[in-house]
Amino acid sequence: MNILIVGGGGREHAIGKKLLEDNNHFTNLYFYPGNGGTGIIGKNIDGKKTLLELGFFAKKNLIDITIVGSEIFLIEGIVDVFHNFGLKIIGPHCLAAKLEGDRIFAKSFMKKYGIRTPKYNIFSSYQEAIDFLDQCTFSVAIKTNGIAAGKGVILARNKNEAKEALETIMVKKKFGKSGDKVLIEEFLQGKEASIISIFNKKQIFPFLSALDYKKIGENETGMNTGGMGAIVPNPYMTNSIWIDFQKNILEPTLEGLISEKLTFFGFLYFGLMITLNKVYLLEYNTRIGDPEAQTLFPLMKNNFLDVIQSFFVHKKVSLSWKNLCSCCVVLSSKGYPEKYKNGQIIKGLDSLQEPFYIAGAKKEKGKWVTSGGRVINIVGIGNTISEARRKAYDKVKKIQFIDSFFRKDIGLYYN
Ligand code: GLY
Repeated sequence: MNILIVGGGGREHAIGKKLLEDNNHFTNLYFYPGNGGTGIIGKNIDGKKTLLELGFFAKKNLIDITIVGSEIFLIEGIVDVFHNFGLKIIGPHCLAAKLEGDRIFAKSFMKKYGIRTPKYNIFSSYQEAIDFLDQCTFSVAIKTNGIAAGKGVILARNKNEAKEALETIMVKKKFGKSGDKVLIEEFLQGKEASIISIFNKKQIFPFLSALDYKKIGENETGMNTGGMGAIVPNPYMTNSIWIDFQKNILEPTLEGLISEKLTFFGFLYFGLMITLNKVYLLEYNTRIGDPEAQTLFPLMKNNFLDVIQSFFVHKKVSLSWKNLCSCCVVLSSKGYPEKYKNGQIIKGLDSLQEPFYIAGAKKEKGKWVTSGGRVINIVGIGNTISEARRKAYDKVKKIQFIDSFFRKDIGLYYN
């Protein structure tokens, strides 16, 4: 089997390692663009490629299946391009990728199918948005219509902050065209949860629940990042919340996807907010989460290639998981998610115990050096979250580089 994995972070390294663990003897992995870790377990495709060039590459190199990790490629239409080449690819076509790439499209879909989501209003005029804020009686999140590389969400603690956010997005155009339209959404207090699932065009099969730590600072403070850690399972996904999720989010989503012909073989990620006794859908992603993938795969019992292949024969997927907990800590470069320095020598990586995943590191002249904001994802597995957390942080101590930064509270408070 020749498998191409598209993306270049810890998630793609985790997908690759899981595939090899289950199918080492007959799997060749290719990555685009990949990173220093994926280059060890497979071949990174060099140079910048258009989607068309990537399609030609896949055809020429007899790629059997392509798995897309990164949303950017999905939103740009990689699935449609690969289908035109007659290639098998896991991910949504362009229109379905709008569930992630176009917030207004996603919210309208949720509204149409009665999927429980915080209330919202849409504005393309700055003045109308300001007038709305003046009458608004609840806390709000201001969101750009486009995903703006994951940065287009501003949580406003008061009206002044909300107005500032509108000015940043609509007048100063900090996020470019992504901010031509904005959503002003009711901001709900609660606990977040991520549910990643497999969609095989007919049914949705959820993974274990995860909790993603999105902010750079402890206690969820500071700037949004790509994710500073995660735990599985999410301690707030109680049985009654699962039932609520299935009834008010998952089932109407499936009905909507089928009715609107938004079906695809791929992953659907539900970004949730759990309030006192209800769960709300904040957003869909149409791919596996990062660092949720790194936290989930070490617990998956299935052969992941079998899971992927079952898509193409419309076979029911029976997911099976180890009865354990997982905690992933992201080691980053100080300064991330803004400016940081690359090229710092990393010590301890070659003798680090699995599971761990490379996100932004590469080997140069026999030494590992940093090459990105998020550098290494270190995972601990245990019978409880606190045991998994302890094991992850024990491993974190074994890695050293100048300007290393990580959150100390991943998995804390959830014993
Ligand atoms: N962990 C959130 C994401 O992958 O976007």
